[in-house]
Order: sequence, then C-alpha cells, then structure tokens
Amino acid sequence: MKISVIGCGYLGAVHAAAMASLGHEVVGVDVDEDKVSALKSGRPPFFEPGLSELLVKGRERGSLDFTTDVSQVVDSRVHFVCVGTPQKPGEFAADVTYVDAAVDSLLEHMTSTSVVVGKSTVPVGTAERLAAVLADTGASLMWNPEFLREGHAVEDTLHPNRLVYGVAPGESGHAATAVLDEVYATMLDDETPRMVTDFATAELVKTAANSFLATKISFINAMAELCEASGADVTQLADAIGMDDRIGRKFLNAGLGFGGGCLPKDIRAFMARAGELGADQAVAFLKEIDSINMRRRVRMVDITRDILAGSFIGKKITVLGAAFKPDSDDVRDSPALSVARLIATQGGVVTVTDPQAIDNASRSFPELNYVRDTSAALAGADAVLLLTEWREYRDLDPIATASLVADRILVDGRNVLDPVQWRGAGWTYRALGRP
Ligand code: UGA
Repeated sequence: MKISVIGCGYLGAVHAAAMASLGHEVVGVDVDEDKVSALKSGRPPFFEPGLSELLVKGRERGSLDFTTDVSQVVDSRVHFVCVGTPQKPGEFAADVTYVDAAVDSLLEHMTSTSVVVGKSTVPVGTAERLAAVLADTGASLMWNPEFLREGHAVEDTLHPNRLVYGVAPGESGHAATAVLDEVYATMLDDETPRMVTDFATAELVKTAANSFLATKISFINAMAELCEASGADVTQLADAIGMDDRIGRKFLNAGLGFGGGCLPKDIRAFMARAGELGADQAVAFLKEIDSINMRRRVRMVDITRDILAGSFIGKKITVLGAAFKPDSDDVRDSPALSVARLIATQGGVVTVTDPQAIDNASRSFPELNYVRDTSAALAGADAVLLLTEWREYRDLDPIATASLVADRILVDGRNVLDPVQWRGAGWTYRALGRP
C-alpha cells in the first residue's frame, strides 16, 4: 500500500522505515531539510538500534523516500500523523499545533478514499476536533496510538503488544478499519491483539498507559524513600513484591526516576486536560507522582554532598550517563543531566560522559564539561555517579576503575551495581533506597 508519514522524528522515522520493511511504499514528510537528507542517506538523525539497517534496506529496495514537499503524499492511501506534542512552555498542557498543522497540510490532497491515521500522543478530544476539520474532504480519520519505547523502537513497532484503532461513531465496520488492517496485516497474522474503540478511548489508552508506568516507577521510588528512612533495601523489596504476578517486577527499578520526552510531559498534559474536562480530582495523584520523581534528583545530589563532607566546592565529580535512559541519545528531561547541573551550580567540577548522548547534551547544556572516553572521564574523580545504566557502566570493574580515580566514592543512581563487589574493592558505595 502507498503510505505517507507526516513528521519524521522519533515516532515517524521509525514508523516509516518499519512500514517499508513490511512491504509498503512509504514517503516520509518533514519540514526539517537536514533530517530529510539524513534519512534519505540511511542515517537516522538520532541513535536507535536497528533503525539504520531498516532505512538502508528501504532505500535500496526503492520503497522508502523522504521529502519536505507535502504534495508528494498525493498518491498515498493512508497518511500517518506522527508529529510531536511537546509540553507548552510555562504550562502543563501539550502543544498540539504541530498536529493541527500536519492535518491542515494534508487537506488539499485528501479524497473520499483517503485515511488519516493519528499516532501522536494527544489530549483526549483532539481526534473528534480533527475529524470535523477533515469532514469536507470525505477522508476518514482514525486514532492509532503508538506504544514504542526509545531504544526498542524498531522491535516495538514491528511486534507491538496490541493495536488500538480509535474510530468515529458508527464506523467500527467501516472501510477505514479494513484499510488499516491491510497496513498491519503482518502483525495481525502474528496474532497481535487488535481493539477497535471510540476516539476518546483510543486517546486515553495511551495517556493512561504512560501514567500507569510513571506511577509504578514513582511508587517504588516512594518505597525507596521509606527504605532510606528505615534501613531497608528497595531492590530486594521490588524483587519480593514483583514475584506476585498481579504486581509484576517490570518498571519497579528504583533509582533516579523517569525522564525523557514522554512520561514527564504526558502526565502533566493529562492533568491539564483533566482540569479542562472538570475531572482534575481523578488524576490529582499524578502531581504527587511527578513530585516523587523530581525529589529523587535532589536526593541524589544530597547523598553525594554528604559523602563529600558537605561541600562540592573544588571536587571533581564524574557523571556516567547523560541520556534519559540507556540505548538512547535523547537528553530531554534527562535525570542524569539534572543532577549534573545541580552539582555544577553548587561548585562541583562536573565531567559528563555517555556512549551516545554527548552531542545532544553539549548542545543543550554547554556549561558542563564532556569527555567521550570513559577512562578519561573517570581520571582523577573525587566521586563517581552512575546515572544512566548503559551496559558499559554496569560492566565496570571495581578494581580497574579504582586505579583511575582520586577517591573511591561511587553513588549508584540506578541500583545496577553489586555493592558487595564494589565495597570489597575498597569503594564507598551508596545507592538510592539501599543501606
Ligand atoms: C515510554 C513508554 O514506555 C512507551 O510505552 C511509550 O510509547 C513512550 O513512552 C511514548 O510515549 O512514546 P520511553 O519514554 O522510551 O517510553 O521510555 P521508558 O522505557 O518508558 O523509560 C522512561 C523513563 O523511566 C526512563 O528515564 C527510565 O530510566 C525510567 N525508568 C524505567 C525507571 O526509572 N525505572 C524503571 O523501572 C523503568
């Protein structure tokens, strides 16, 4: 099928490449010329395992193109809207202007057989509003939220754990549903569950899922605060409660908490939208989820300052990790960089290293010192902070690392190192939520 993808950021670039790999003919449209030319030459504009290979294959087969010219969508039957919905500056609400602009740009190319499929994460009510915008063209609108995780985006797009189709009233058996089934035929053949809902439910599925994940993380981090107060160990607590399969162990990793371009802004946008709908009490707890999450960053700084006898002044601090999570170069709302900046403003001499995110981090926060090589970054450190759990840092050898630093102090912000091993090599090992 001929498909267009509007917006070639994280979601759109992966979606376009994945749809081409399923055998469709795909054109991705973006306003950013640099991004388009990078994608055309098979280079993802961000780090995502497996994406480059998919782009190169799609380009070689001739089934994947990218352009800044929206009129190139004219031959496509299905148009996926994949633009971003960032947090509005100074507000909790999501900025949906890119979604509106994407739909507006499609209007003149729509016919009665066109299907517009929204994938962006939007405030509930957006799809109904956009369906009215499209009404005169005769095109159908569906809302098909995306659940991909950065770092696993290709796998999540090609093997989703469910497909949700939000459709207009009375359209559950409509031709548009059959068209989307054809697009996703390979996944449906693999028995991926598919649910057809109304627009509002589909929009809420996405926001509710991210809110639940954020709640799980902040729950275990609240338990970490209690563990710190009582001398208990949050990693053992998580293992033990996670063995109850009603609870489950996933997303119960206590530490520095969540960041990135999705969870933080999605829970805030949800609170803002619930307020507009007069249902703010229903999600008032998300404010506490957000507060617990932000408190972890301050706690990390406090623990480190305590070990350094109450002051960062003149101390060389090495921060391992800048990305908001491993296997990503995304630094949006990165907990690691928040901590690095807090320590720098308190007089610490901070060196940040990361396997992939240094370019993005140094563009966002040029005031910090960045070193690419891990050993060079560790050289002469008075304290080491593990803030993003890249495999390379999890595998660090405590004895070899000791020979690089000035003082053997390590604070594990992600609870991924073995305290016995590190203490055994003479390190002062501290972590969040552990004795
Ligand atoms: C999240 C969701 O997991 C995806 O399902 C969703 O599609 C995506 O947002 C989105 O809205 O587009 P992502 O932001 O890529 O995906 O990252 P996650 O893997 O969810 O991690 C988010 C943050 O939580 C990271 O900073 C991670 O370090 C932290 N985290 C995760 C924890 O602190 N503890 C955990 O146990 C798990």
